[in-house]
Amino acid sequence: MKNRERGLLKIVECLKKHNYSISRILPSQKNHLKLPFEPINLLNFVFWEKNALYEWTAFPLFYQKIFKLFYPKVFILFKMFFLNNEVKRDDVFKFFREEDVSLFIKGGILDESNGSYRFTIKLIPYQDMIISKGSSWFGKDSVIFAEYLTKDLSGMTFEKTLDLCTGTGVQAIVSKKYSKRVTASDIREGLVQNAMLNAKINNITDITFLNSNLLKNIPGKYDLITANPPYGIVSNNPDDKTYGLHTVFELLENLDNHLNNGGMASIITESVVKDGKDMVFEKIKQVFDNKNYTIVLTPLNYHINNLFFNLVHKEYGISHIPLHIISFRKNDKNMIVLLKLPLIRKIICFAYIALMYSKYFFRHEK
Ligand SMILES: C[S@@+](CC[C@H](N)C(=O)[O-])C[C@H]1O[C@@H](n2cnc3c(N)ncnc32)[C@H](O)[C@@H]1O
Repeated sequence: MKNRERGLLKIVECLKKHNYSISRILPSQKNHLKLPFEPINLLNFVFWEKNALYEWTAFPLFYQKIFKLFYPKVFILFKMFFLNNEVKRDDVFKFFREEDVSLFIKGGILDESNGSYRFTIKLIPYQDMIISKGSSWFGKDSVIFAEYLTKDLSGMTFEKTLDLCTGTGVQAIVSKKYSKRVTASDIREGLVQNAMLNAKINNITDITFLNSNLLKNIPGKYDLITANPPYGIVSNNPDDKTYGLHTVFELLENLDNHLNNGGMASIITESVVKDGKDMVFEKIKQVFDNKNYTIVLTPLNYHINNLFFNLVHKEYGISHIPLHIISFRKNDKNMIVLLKLPLIRKIICFAYIALMYSKYFFRHEK
């Protein structure tokens, strides 16, 4: 075993021993404009203990200060392994011995300079697991989707499951609880290695990991397919009419070939709304028009593209961007439904979108 892996296993053991997972209640993504959502963060912090690490908050330090009063040791671990802050020598040696520290330095997990220490690996507490982020994506959508699968799959057992675009492997690990055999794949070989490591540190040894461009190297058919594919990577080629959804569209086109009769699939993806039409919904109607499926698109929220506002919203004429969870059941029906966002959520989302539109409008006017 390499120094890096040995070091990581030592750290995970320490995090589990000190109940690192309680730090999941700390909302950690700073954003002042999300003030209307703060009461939800507060309620979760006090009562619910759901994973809030990827929730937006106007006051991350407020939560951290209170948390530190109750859980001083866990807070140091959170600073070291989630925030990757620089910490003092004493903090590191509260948890690790001299030989562990030199193993971490040799394995490239820990940087030391002038008596200050900084860990270079990010470890995310999720449910009862610890997930090494590596160079993978991990965000609010990862948490939402893993949470959704936990609820949706509860009480079911699948023979064969496939998790595409696996990244850290979090959804594959969650799905393993409900599946006899799981295969997980990603286009990036480095991420496949990291996902394997994540299965190992969470004591799961029987997931098959593959390197594959979507379904291209995937043999056979499955009873459950899950995917959080990439989206929102907007090309500035004016002829590209997929609006950053090309991988999602390709997945939709090939899904049926890999799903057994009676099987299920769940996909989380953004869509775009242009001229009042939801593009993912339109694509699904086109691909599954003559197939026997029950397909339900559940919007979770609406937002806009801050990064490429002009291109996406002015030039392409996209009014807003919904985030959907789409559930597919391959059965004897032919039904495709796009649900509505609950009214309260719709009001909050459109208030936020109006705020962002006015911000860009005034910036442009100046
Ligand atoms: C939004 S991330 C989701 C990662 C993880 N499932 C999660 O929810 O945190 C998308 C993942 O898809 C992978 N990906 C991108 N294009 C792909 C393709 N054509 N085939 C397979 N995986 C792909 C990326 O490497 C990335 O890990």
